[in-house]
This record gives sequence, C-alpha cells and structure tokens, in this order.
Amino acid sequence: MDPKAFFKLSYGVYIVSSSTDGKDGGCVINTMTQVTSSPARISIALNKNNFTLKLIETSGTFSGVVLAEAVEMDMIKRFGFQSGREASKYEDIPMGRDSLYNPYPTENVCSRFTCRVISSLDVGTHVLIIGEVVEAQVMDGTAQPLTYANYHLKKNGTTPPNAPSYQETTEKTVGYRCSVCGYILESDTLPDDFICPVCGKDASYFSKL
Ligand SMILES: Cc1cc2nc3c(=O)[nH]c(=O)nc-3n(C[C@H](O)[C@H](O)[C@H](O)COP(=O)(O)O)c2cc1C
Repeated sequence: MDPKAFFKLSYGVYIVSSSTDGKDGGCVINTMTQVTSSPARISIALNKNNFTLKLIETSGTFSGVVLAEAVEMDMIKRFGFQSGREASKYEDIPMGRDSLYNPYPTENVCSRFTCRVISSLDVGTHVLIIGEVVEAQVMDGTAQPLTYANYHLKKNGTTPPNAPSYQETTEKTVGYRCSVCGYILESDTLPDDFICPVCGKDASYFSKL
C-alpha cells in the first residue's frame, strides 16, 4: 500500500462545534462531507479523544462552518491544536449561536450548517457521525473556501495526530516532530528554547524521529 495515494484525496477545512451544560467547544476537521441532498445530510469523522465528540454525543446536535481562505492560522491553532478540555475556545472571538444553541465562529466563514445527529458509527480510532441539516446559511458569498491542499501549500499548515488524514513519516527524515501539530524540524539537534512555529509549543513536546 502506497501511503502517498491518500494525499491525492481532496478536502476542505471546517470547524464543528457544540455546547453542553454551559460548555461551548469545537474543533477543526477536514472530514465534513455532504452525503445526501434530500433530506440534506452531512457526515463528520471525529477522533474518540476529541472533547468536541463528547459535546456532540451529549447534545445530539452540532454546527459546522466552511472556513475561508483568509482564515488566520491563529484560528486553526485555537480550534485544531488544543483541546476544549483545557481551553475555552470561544472566549473573545466573534461568534454566533444557531437555533439549537450550537456556537459557531463568524469571521472568515463562507457558510454554516446546523445539524441534528441521526446516526453514528464506531470506525476504530474515530466515530463517523451523520447529521441531518436543519439550517444552512451563506455567511460570505464572495469568500473562497479553504481547501486542505491550500492549507498545506499556502499556510504551511500541518496535520495533528488526531486527524484521520495524519500519517507517520515513512521516509527517512532526520529531525524532531511536534506531538501536538505534527510539525517536523529537520535538524540533528533540538535547541532547548525551540518553539514550534506552527502551534507555539516548546521543545518538551518534540520527539526524535
Ligand atoms: C487541518 C486539520 C484537520 C483536522 N481534521 C480532523 C478530523 O477530521 N477529525 C478529527 O477528529 N480531528 C481533526 N483534527 C484535529 C482536531 O482539530 C484536534 O485534535 C483538536 O485539538 C480537538 O479539539 P477538542 O479536544 O477540543 O475537540 C484536525 C486538525 C487540523 C489542524
């Protein structure tokens, strides 16, 4: 099996969110897909360790936004490289709330959806959730959606271990990998004061390849 074959799959970049017991949360995903149109249904794949999965399983609802090309890496860091168990991800950012009380970011968002969970499937490391769309709204009709390819190409984005598209390095690379965001420092040495340029974690989060 050639692992590079998987790099040819195309995706977008999204934030899915939910709220339970007064706690808002959400995470970046690349696995939001429309599966049927009538009725409109969307699937998402969430890692079992993700706090967002717990929120969605408890509330039975979620929001999903399509991120625009202009989205700042800070937003990706906020929602994709830290967990809602430790961080209040919606603190101090522009946000809205849908009719099912799910929070959603409003800046650099092309469109948004509100879904009720109708089914879920345990697929090993992840849970595949099917949501029935109860609201859909274009937030910015001119903004271009960020593709997963451009996230890597234009934003130097990385894929953290919890994403389904994450792959262990198969080529012989000399260096150190950040355990939070997957960034690889190609170097024989890791300076003690090194800070990850993608997610901002310190050298203690790196392990030798
Ligand atoms: C570009 C990108 C794509 C990602 N795709 C997924 C995904 O499809 N499914 C998933 O479970 N996690 C995905 N992640 C990882 C989660 O966003 C990350 O583990 C997050 O910290 C989980 O936060 P939570 O614990 O608050 O839910 C992705 C992250 C990035 C940056």
